[in-house]
Amino acid sequence: MTNFLRWLTFALCLPFLSGRGAAQVAPLIANINARQTTSLDGQWQAIVDPYDVGALDYRAQPLKNNNAFYKNYKPQSESELVEYDFDTSGQLHVPGDWNTQREQLLFYEGSVWYERSFDYAKSPKNRLFLHLGACNYLAAVYLNGEELGEHEGGFTPFDFEITDRARAQGNFLVLRVNNTRGRDQVPTVNTDWWNYGGITRPVTLVEVPQTFVQDYSVQLEKGSTRQITGWVQLNGAKLQQNLTIRIPEAGVSKIFQTNSRGRAEFSFSADLTLWSPENPKLYRVEIASETDQVIESIGFRSIEVRGTDILLNGKSVFLRGISIHEEAPTRPGRAWGDDDARTLLSWAKELGCNFVRLAHYPHDESMLRMADQMGLMVWAEVPVYWTIQWENPPTLHNAENQLNEMIARDHNRAALIIYSVANETPVSDARNRFLRQLIQDAHAADPTRLVSAALQSNEVAEGNRMTIQMNDPIASDLDVLGNSEYIGWYTGRPEDTDSTDWISEYGKPLIMSEFGGDALFGYHGDAHTRWTEEYQKNLYEHQIAMLKRIPFLRGMTPWILKDFRSPRRTLPRFENYFNRKGLVSDRGEKKEAFFVLQKLYRELRGAQPPK
Ligand code: GCU
Repeated sequence: MTNFLRWLTFALCLPFLSGRGAAQVAPLIANINARQTTSLDGQWQAIVDPYDVGALDYRAQPLKNNNAFYKNYKPQSESELVEYDFDTSGQLHVPGDWNTQREQLLFYEGSVWYERSFDYAKSPKNRLFLHLGACNYLAAVYLNGEELGEHEGGFTPFDFEITDRARAQGNFLVLRVNNTRGRDQVPTVNTDWWNYGGITRPVTLVEVPQTFVQDYSVQLEKGSTRQITGWVQLNGAKLQQNLTIRIPEAGVSKIFQTNSRGRAEFSFSADLTLWSPENPKLYRVEIASETDQVIESIGFRSIEVRGTDILLNGKSVFLRGISIHEEAPTRPGRAWGDDDARTLLSWAKELGCNFVRLAHYPHDESMLRMADQMGLMVWAEVPVYWTIQWENPPTLHNAENQLNEMIARDHNRAALIIYSVANETPVSDARNRFLRQLIQDAHAADPTRLVSAALQSNEVAEGNRMTIQMNDPIASDLDVLGNSEYIGWYTGRPEDTDSTDWISEYGKPLIMSEFGGDALFGYHGDAHTRWTEEYQKNLYEHQIAMLKRIPFLRGMTPWILKDFRSPRRTLPRFENYFNRKGLVSDRGEKKEAFFVLQKLYRELRGAQPPK
């Protein structure tokens, strides 16, 4: 069933059932944790519904009566037939994927209905929003038997305004979350990561004034270390207001006026201690209108490219990185929240990293804010992964939407330096057009950051040497080139890197976005026995020697920090549905190669980038 049809099913059953027009996903409220919030996290009632009987009748027509699960209807008499009941159907924890909460749901792909009741006494003069950190993959949201709207994409936040829909008591919130894979989706049907389904990030009620500070950007102008430029967007009836931007520690206090569309744009200079991994300085920034105030914590740094150099605060920097999947460090399942972020990023710091690639989709906001605090630069990516339907306009719209939602959430994070629009995608005209559109979108939405993608390159054998040429048509549209290679694992032997050279005519910096090999922690043998720690160690040693010889290399994010679940990894004994390319096992044990990379990063730290 194509996505469009899936939506048709979704969309068709809604308006008839609710009478009142569907609400829509509201513009994203920035920095909700700095607002007046109430968490709806915890144990939610849940119904696992593999055949969507909660939405469709036996003719696959949208349900229009109390049999629709979002009605949360109870039999009014002993003789009334009602074939669902949230209260006796068991619970699932929110946030959390459903796959690791019940053994029988580990491989489950389909719909799960969630129900949560709550009372909420809103101050009469305020507005109320429902904020969802992320739901994988399709989410339809209902409040008190009425539809609020739907959202596609498993890794970005969305809001609904419920000011006129919530009542003081007895609210019931129902979500239908479906993670069935579809060819026209982003990502599509084939990923080397587990398709964790569910309400995977926090759910929050957010109370704001009638006219509130919807969003803002307070960043250094591109290439400047003193000029702050930005904007503030109000939402509400009273759009023309006085606005104050204060950065008390930097002695900044500026007044501006918003225009008739509630927007103010500004630029002013300031003496600032710049954010860097060595000194991740964050400033308290107060954004106050006449009716609302938001306190933010922002670092100021400039990031730019000059030739094959990447300049942080005007100085050339080498990105000592590691790739990370959003899996919890010390328990199965999706990671979320500060503790998971702190643990994963502490392992990266222990490696000697100043940079992390958050693969292959936007990670939880906590990860970005933690990177701000811990001093780790970030490569963030949208899941345009492998063989996307390049010629399908709804697929492009979906990818653009996920990119914009990612930028909308994280554009004030100093740590975030690179947006990646794709991973290992096959070159074609349609693909090039698709990715060029995303590159343009990213630059338009945020001109202060760099845009990249994880490309793949062709090898040319010459005598006993191998030359790898960066030659992807979209490379000329990117600020920074990313490249994934698996010499020594999927192709050749680790030693083949000794006779491999890299060339590029783009005159741009390269980040080796992936390299590596699998090892089962504790499995030992000689350096040529696959799956042993010695093989992985040997592979890293040879890779590092090759990487040091690449003149335009300005960073690397080896694949990967920690072993992670993958449905593509079926080999018993060694994989058991885990990708074992981690430098840390799924139980947090460090493999020998961890220390090889740590040694390199210790050498590099303080040294100029390898020439
Ligand atoms: C690819 C891909 C990863 C995958 C890795 C691997 O490069 O981008 O998602 O996990 O290879 O094969 O281990």
